[in-house]
Amino acid sequence: MATSGTDAYTGQDGLPPLVRRALAAARAHGFPHSCRPEQGRLLHALAGGARGRIGETGTGLGVGLAWLLSGAAPGVRLYGVERDADRARAAREVFAGRDEVTVLTGDWRRIEEYGPFDLLVLDGGGQGKAPGDRPADVERLLAPGGTVVVDDFTPVAGWPPVHDGRVDRARLHWLEHPALRATELRLAPDLSTVVGTRLLV
Ligand SMILES: C[S@@+](CC[C@H](N)C(=O)[O-])C[C@H]1O[C@@H](n2cnc3c(N)ncnc32)[C@H](O)[C@@H]1O
Repeated sequence: MATSGTDAYTGQDGLPPLVRRALAAARAHGFPHSCRPEQGRLLHALAGGARGRIGETGTGLGVGLAWLLSGAAPGVRLYGVERDADRARAAREVFAGRDEVTVLTGDWRRIEEYGPFDLLVLDGGGQGKAPGDRPADVERLLAPGGTVVVDDFTPVAGWPPVHDGRVDRARLHWLEHPALRATELRLAPDLSTVVGTRLLV
């Protein structure tokens, strides 16, 4: 998890208005874990290719969802889920009046009712990083040709990826998933993200 994603926007110009609004909510709630600007810009770019639905687990105060909405074409529907009820309520306020956005309160699995997605961002639940966190089933949740994004890895050199002295099984799950073509993108010297496209057949 990015420890200071919210602070990383300090002094940044040219942010989409909705991202600024979500950042204001994150600051007002003392929430430091918003996605970093590098990640947000990646989400913004990928959202432009979605036709139908975009999903995000772990919406926080809505910064990533705001990047997604700012990049998406008109008519695309967006679904976020956040288990912390106060954060979910505040995120809904960020998107007040934007009927194409639904922020659910609860465990990330609630989003399963709204798939399949053209773009699915796993930022809180469904990443398979934490003990007991089952990785999201992309064969069910992604439309063919759809994209999954798994945020917040520490860049590593070499193979297999090692994190904290052990083979990073969570990262390998995504990079070697038989239904995906996936790669790790280094967004900053200390931040990488795995992006995978679901095979058409
Ligand atoms: C890294 S922060 C989210 C940042 C946010 N996506 C953004 O772009 O600003 C992770 C969030 O995931 C939420 N979370 C963690 N586990 C979850 C789960 N199992 N289901 C739903 N939300 C979860 C946490 O409460 C936290 O708000």
